[in-house]
Formats: sequence, C-alpha cells, structure tokens
Amino acid sequence: MARKISTEPSRTLAEFRLLPGLTLRRHSIEQISLTTPLAEFPDGSGHLMLNIPLISAAMQAVSGPRMGIALARQGGVACIFCSQSVQDQARMVAKVKNHKAGFVQPRTVSPSTPIHQVHQLGESLGFSTFPVVDSHGTLLGLVTRNDYDLGRHGQLPVSERMIPRSSLSVGIDIQDLRQANDILLESHHSGLPIVDGNDKLLYLVFKKDIRNHTDNPLEVLDSRKRLLSVAAVNTHDYRQRVPALVRAEADAIAVDSSDGHSVYQQETIRFIAGEYPGIPIIGGNIITAEGFRFLVESGAHAVKVGMGGGSICITQEQKGTGRGLATALMEVCDARDRLRERTGRYIPIIADGGIVTSKDMVVALAMGADTVMLGRYFARMDESPPQKLMMDNRMVKPYWGEGAARARQWKTLRYRHGSFEEGVEGFVDYAGPLASNIPRTLAKIRASMSSCGAASLAQLHDHAQLELVSPLSIREGKVHDILMPPNDPPLPVLH
Ligand code: IMP
Repeated sequence: MARKISTEPSRTLAEFRLLPGLTLRRHSIEQISLTTPLAEFPDGSGHLMLNIPLISAAMQAVSGPRMGIALARQGGVACIFCSQSVQDQARMVAKVKNHKAGFVQPRTVSPSTPIHQVHQLGESLGFSTFPVVDSHGTLLGLVTRNDYDLGRHGQLPVSERMIPRSSLSVGIDIQDLRQANDILLESHHSGLPIVDGNDKLLYLVFKKDIRNHTDNPLEVLDSRKRLLSVAAVNTHDYRQRVPALVRAEADAIAVDSSDGHSVYQQETIRFIAGEYPGIPIIGGNIITAEGFRFLVESGAHAVKVGMGGGSICITQEQKGTGRGLATALMEVCDARDRLRERTGRYIPIIADGGIVTSKDMVVALAMGADTVMLGRYFARMDESPPQKLMMDNRMVKPYWGEGAARARQWKTLRYRHGSFEEGVEGFVDYAGPLASNIPRTLAKIRASMSSCGAASLAQLHDHAQLELVSPLSIREGKVHDILMPPNDPPLPVLH
C-alpha cells in the first residue's frame, strides 16, 4: 500500500479567482509597489530584491544575455541557462553584469586620422561622435559631424578640426549616470567623455541614453550599480561551473533540477554554501512541504515550486510525477509561513511552470509566491535567443524544453535519464519586444491588487481571498452566448 493516497484532485492556478477586498485611495494603480524578495541573503541581513516579480526561465530558448539585460532593466531578472559549456554560460553572465546602461565603450580615432576616413567610419557604423586619443588611450579631443565639412576639410587630420580636450566638459571616474547627467545638462555637447584620474578615456555617455535610462526607473542593480543576474547550475558539474559563475559575479545561483528533493541537490547546495558563503542559493524544484523543508535545511535561501506544469513539459505523462501548481504552492507557502512564525526567517517562493496569463501570475502571487518564473511568456519576445520566423502566415519563435532532444544535444544534464525525453519542441506566437509586453502584464497585476485592497505584494499575501471556481463559472467568465460579427478577426490571445 502506498504511504499516502490523496483522492483530492490537485488544482491549477486557472481554477481560482480572487475575491475583491476594500479598495482605498492608497490602492490606486500608480501607487502599487511590485517590489519583492528573490532570495534571502545568507548572512541574514535581508533579501536580494527585485522591483517586479518576474523571472525568465533557465532555458536555452529563453534566457540569454539579451534577455538578462532587458529584463533587469525592467525590474525583473533572467536565470541564465546551464545547458551549455561553463565558459559560455560565464560569458553570458559577465555580459549582463558588464552592461553599463548608458556607458558606451566608444570607437576612437587618432589625431592623425584624415577627416574623410572618420566620416567613412561614421557612415558604416551609424554614429558620428568619436573621441580622439593618443597611442596610450589619453583623451585629446572629440570630433563630431558638426565639426567638419567633408568637401572642405576631408584631407585634414582630425587634430585640425576636433574640439580639443581643454574645451571639453569631461567626467572624471564617474560611475553613476546621475552624476554624468548633471554635467551633461550643463554642457553644450550631446556626449560626455568619462576619463580616469590620468585622463585615459573610459566611456562616453550620451544625452539620449540618459533619457532611455530614466525611462527604466525600476531597473534592478547591485551595490556597484550593475544589473542583476542569476545563473542556473546542474547537480553534476557544479564543482567546475559554480566557481566560473561566481567569478563572472552572478548575484544568485539557482540549482536547476526537475526534482530537487534529492541528495544530489543537497550535495550541490552544501558545496555552494561551503565554498561561497556569501551567495544566495535558490533550490528546486519541489512540490511538497517535505521537499521545501528539506531544501531549507540543506541551505537554500529561496525555493522554486512546480513540477509537470510547464507548457513544453511531458514529465507527468512520461514519469507520472507532478502536481497542479496551485496545490503545490498552497502547501509549500503554508510550510514557509510556519517556518517564519517559528524562526523569523522568510524564504521567498518562486512559482514555476505553466503560468500562462497575468491572471495566473496574480493568483500565484496571492497564494504566497514572491515571484513567478516564466518560459513560454518570455520565449515569445524579441529578446529570447531564437530567431523569429513565419509559419502558416503567422510570426512565431521556436520554443523547446530543456528536456527535449534539441536541448540535450547541448549535453544538458537536468533531465539525465537518457532513455526518454521530458520536454517537447514547438513554436510560440511572436509577441514583440519585452518593453511593450511587460507594462501591459504589470498593469493587469496591479489592477487585480488594487481590487484586492493591496498596495504591495506583502499586503496581497495578507489580504487576498481566493476561491476555487467550477468549470461552469470559468465558462461564465469568458465571452459567451453572443454571436460575434462573422468577419471580425479572432479575439486576441490575452496574456
Ligand atoms: P512555461 O512557463 O510553462 O513554459 O514553463 C517553464 C518551466 O518549465 C521552466 O522554468 C522549467 O521549470 C520547466 N521546464 C523546462 N524545460 C522542461 C522540459 O523539457 N520538461 C519539463 N519541464 C521543463
């Protein structure tokens, strides 16, 4: 006889609805904060925070450096996938960490370069501001398209037409865009060279990039003002992988197992915690309170919940393991809250797999998740690694599971059974750039929170009232019993 047989069906997020609470003026959508903890800091000094509760999944088809940069600039974070070589993954993490929004490493010219060559360079590169440096990289001046007439000055050396260093506004050792902005606003130039204490050129900062930066007020930065990046590791080559990712300065490590309730996961977490005691560790995936307690006792600082629900996932069919995400979240969040009552520790929960709409996201958050991890949602966007293509008159992007044959060609070890696949390969409708999708999703999450009388995700956890709905009420909640105009385009898919 089995240890436990439950005859209660496990539930998915789509089976729940939120009941509204009292909405006060302070719950207006503009005032709602989506700031949320991603993981505990190991020294107990607080939590690594995100400004929006969205994480892109650790998958080849989802989270490369482009996603990492774009999502961190929106306030979330990408989990850079580990189904690739250690060096390639470390390079991706370093790319996110070294991206200095607004700080451009400029193409330079020498003082003897003829103006016509500078002009040609500008035409081919698509920009026209060039710092002029000597052979040691010391800044001598700046030449822009306004400083010469090609016909008249084309044969002259740059030194004859450049704005000399003595007439330039320059930032010395500036790390912060706000400081650069202050100087730029006072200067008459569109670009500001940043030099070190010896006048060696470091970067250029442009007025237009500062505007772009202030358009992203939620971007998540580390203490040195660099974008946050999370890296996944498997439970096999972690002894080689983790050191490289720490050197690349990943902000947290996620141990990526389809079933994290295992000694392999425990050994991996203990290795990371022992060797790198300062780095937050995300454990997972688990779907029971027992699995949650096991990971926390093993040393995890956040726990990822979900098994068998991913859009590309065939684990339930292949292995018969899995659980509806709502049931898993309810049980695990309850265990997390009890741990907090007993110890004061708050372990953030990440809901992962099968989260389709913003309605699913807010239900997961209301149930107690602090963030949601999304694969399919982000795979549809410009910033995911695959190229978009036309298929049957619609624009799509390829999307495949980490347990699909395509990912395994990269020697992924997450789904290591070898003899069968746990994921499929398919396509998702192309959805455009991240920056035009995320605001729409967040607006819906904020609107739900406002209805629930919650000005923050912590308040949503405290105030939310959820109700299981019947298949008939789900039907009732959709457009029904009316005739749609025959030639109308099909209703858009809402996310
Ligand atoms: P989605 O957001 O529904 O597309 O689910 C993404 C999640 O599915 C990931 O974060 C993983 O937890 C999980 N996943 C990724 N690849 C596979 C696979 O091949 N089989 C099963 N689950 C997968």
